[in-house]
Amino acid sequence: MLPLSSRVRKTAGSQTLAQTAKAKRLREAGMDVVALTAGEPDFPTPGHVKEAALAAIASDFTHYTENEGIRELREVIAAKFSRENDFRVTAEQILVSTGAKQSIFNALQAICNPGDEVLLLSPYWVSYPDIIKLADATPVIVSSHRDGHFRPDIRRIRDALSRHTKALILNTPCNPSGVVYSSEEISQIADLVRDAGIYVLSDEIYEKITYDGNRHISIGSFPGMEDKAIVVNGLSKAFAMTGWRIGYMGGPPEVIKAASKVQSQVTSNPNSIAQKAAVAALTGGEADVRHMVGEFSRRRDLAMEFMSRIPDLTVVKPEGAFYFLLGVSRFYGRRSGSGPISSSGEMADYLLDRHGVAVVPGAAFGMDACIRLSYACSVENLRKGLERMREGLTQLSSDHVSIP
Ligand SMILES: Cc1ncc(COP(=O)(O)O)c(C=O)c1O
Repeated sequence: MLPLSSRVRKTAGSQTLAQTAKAKRLREAGMDVVALTAGEPDFPTPGHVKEAALAAIASDFTHYTENEGIRELREVIAAKFSRENDFRVTAEQILVSTGAKQSIFNALQAICNPGDEVLLLSPYWVSYPDIIKLADATPVIVSSHRDGHFRPDIRRIRDALSRHTKALILNTPCNPSGVVYSSEEISQIADLVRDAGIYVLSDEIYEKITYDGNRHISIGSFPGMEDKAIVVNGLSKAFAMTGWRIGYMGGPPEVIKAASKVQSQVTSNPNSIAQKAAVAALTGGEADVRHMVGEFSRRRDLAMEFMSRIPDLTVVKPEGAFYFLLGVSRFYGRRSGSGPISSSGEMADYLLDRHGVAVVPGAAFGMDACIRLSYACSVENLRKGLERMREGLTQLSSDHVSIP
């Protein structure tokens, strides 16, 4: 075979998708598997959103649109940014894309050159390092899990800055940790971004999924961010619209223009019908979102209560999103039958192969001491999955070997 590009050879496929696919394969082969891997709400898309899509089809709104998204939607998004995030941009500063993932891709393609560095706080969303590499830049990982609480560590971020730093990626509420950055933390990061003269790409896709009075705050609302902040968001999580593929970003005019140029040569406009549905989602009230968040909150409490009784498991209560990042390193060195477990990948394989519960290895998020569990599933499945995980971990506990 002729060689593939070096760009593609240094890129890994999504590990979360891989683990979900493995669980599916085992299920199809007849194994009873509970998947706690989902990165999407298990709720239907709201009815009024589906109706808007049907109306778009009925009225033949089925052709190419403006590359950057229809003006109606960009105006709705600009108004949303202003109203909900105190982030002031015009419709010309909005680019609508085929999912937030494409928004992030477009943004990094627009701002990165070979040799540039992009700072990532670990634990980080699985796709950032590879999207950075696809832009010919280098991910620089800053560990932000001081005291095991996954909070951003400003001093370490400052120490990681170099003359090559082009941008910092922020993700709050965070996938996988569930941490929601405080106003104080974001203010300190805004100061750092301003002093360093770099871009900040703020991925706010879980903004509406927060608990216990924690409120999402956008770095785009801080002074001096007008020419620095690229704010990414999307419909996937808040409106249970993962399959519709609508994401968007707002930012400095020249960045948006450049990102739009990238998009024009890759996908052109996002799906026309989904754009009309997005207008309905963003203007149709938040009753469905509130209902969904209420359910997630109950499941989180249930899982928290259950897991806090498993010896040696480290659990940090999520403040947002719908994941737990569980510390499992105290189980490393314990025998699984085939040998001692020594990594998150081996732990995830053990739990899936031997106990029928699928989770994602923390190594995918830069945290090999952890596994990620999603509670975007029915209470019945969650209970079943948690029981299996406890069984698996407890069996390990009773069969300890020390690694030389
Ligand atoms: C932190 C984060 N950003 C972006 C995305 C991508 O979302 P979209 O479906 O809009 O591409 C995800 C999806 O899992 C995510 O968890």
